[in-house]
Amino acid sequence: MSDTMLACVRKGVDQLAMEQIPIPTIQEPTDVILKVRLAAICGTDVHFLELPIPDITMGHEVVGEIDELGDKVEGYQKGDRVVMSCMLACGKCAACLQGEPSACIGPGGKVQHGLLMHGCQAEYVRVPHAPNSICKIPDSLTDEQAILAGDIFSTGMGVLERVPMRTGDTIAIFALGPLGLCTVKAARALGAGKVIGVDPDPLRRETAEKMGANVTIDPGEGDPVAKIMGETDGFGVDISVEAVGLAENLQAAFKSARIGGAISSLGVYGFATQELPIPLQTGTPVPDAFYHRKFLTTLCPSGHFRLKRLLDLMEYGKLDFSPLWTNSFPLEKTIEGYETFRDHSKKAIKIGIKP
Ligand SMILES: NC(=O)c1ccc[n+]([C@@H]2O[C@H](COP(=O)([O-])OP(=O)(O)OC[C@H]3O[C@@H](n4cnc5c(N)ncnc54)[C@H](O)[C@@H]3O)[C@@H](O)[C@H]2O)c1
Ligand SMILES: [Zn+2]
Ligand SMILES: [Zn+2]
Repeated sequence: MSDTMLACVRKGVDQLAMEQIPIPTIQEPTDVILKVRLAAICGTDVHFLELPIPDITMGHEVVGEIDELGDKVEGYQKGDRVVMSCMLACGKCAACLQGEPSACIGPGGKVQHGLLMHGCQAEYVRVPHAPNSICKIPDSLTDEQAILAGDIFSTGMGVLERVPMRTGDTIAIFALGPLGLCTVKAARALGAGKVIGVDPDPLRRETAEKMGANVTIDPGEGDPVAKIMGETDGFGVDISVEAVGLAENLQAAFKSARIGGAISSLGVYGFATQELPIPLQTGTPVPDAFYHRKFLTTLCPSGHFRLKRLLDLMEYGKLDFSPLWTNSFPLEKTIEGYETFRDHSKKAIKIGIKP
């Protein structure tokens, strides 16, 4: 067998190349090497391209088969089909032991593939801290369902769970990219009342309605905050979610949340952005200010048991994510996949990459 593989490698700011690089090998006894079955392109990959870090393989969303296991990886065998959490966790540090693995402060924790270590848009990928970072996939779930538990469905659930959302809460979601759409699905799965989605792209609004949104708003057709107020009897929503990383959307999310409600931010605002303005006058009824609201940000909740619970929810709750998956590219065409992901005229939402 050859000891090199095809990988989509970042070559500095906004540059990608398909290259042959060495196949990863076990470095630590808690590592596994996955033979990639499905990788995906995330909005965060596009942000990573802003950084001048050369020669790192892209990608942090993956389903693969175990090809090699370290000595301390118990309960798995070669050939097992698994999904990986996109934030790695050591399982031993103070953050992990307190149930916050996404905030891991241990060695090699909170590291993302495709940022500081080689990612999964390749034939093989190394997964450190595997016992805390992977989970076997039940036969009834497809790769396309399971991969979402590793990043965007976990994040979409997490943004509501951290508030925490109550049964029947009214939710507004600013941006209906794959992450916003997974947040729509999460709101439904958690028992939301009215779910309102905001996005300029008609395909994304239509997809949100298929995935459980009751009302969708085109921000190009007038102030979405005024429309959200109209949908909530002038009261505002219980939870407003920022899911793209635009300062004006965060402002609109503040202005749409009722007094006592929550603003929960998921979007990555870009590495050049240092500060975000928060509006003091929200435009909602008395008192007309931002006081007495919760403001949270969320990183993707991760870890073996997080994956297990989300896979169980997908399996027994029969969650349908099929409207998300618009395109699939063979690994050798990953760069075309990125071009399609970034060009909304190509009518693509979530893009799979298959070696
Ligand atoms: N917090 C986390 O752990 C986490 C996890 C995954 C992704 N993200 C971030 O979430 C963001 C979205 O990711 P994605 O994969 O859905 O990307 P995406 O680029 O496909 O989605 C962005 C969406 O924003 C919409 N949009 C653009 N302008 C808008 C506006 N003015 N109002 C409303 N919507 C608007 C676009 O039409 C598109 O649907 C990215 O910033 C990504 O980095 C964060
Ligand atoms: Zn991601
Ligand atoms: Zn840790």
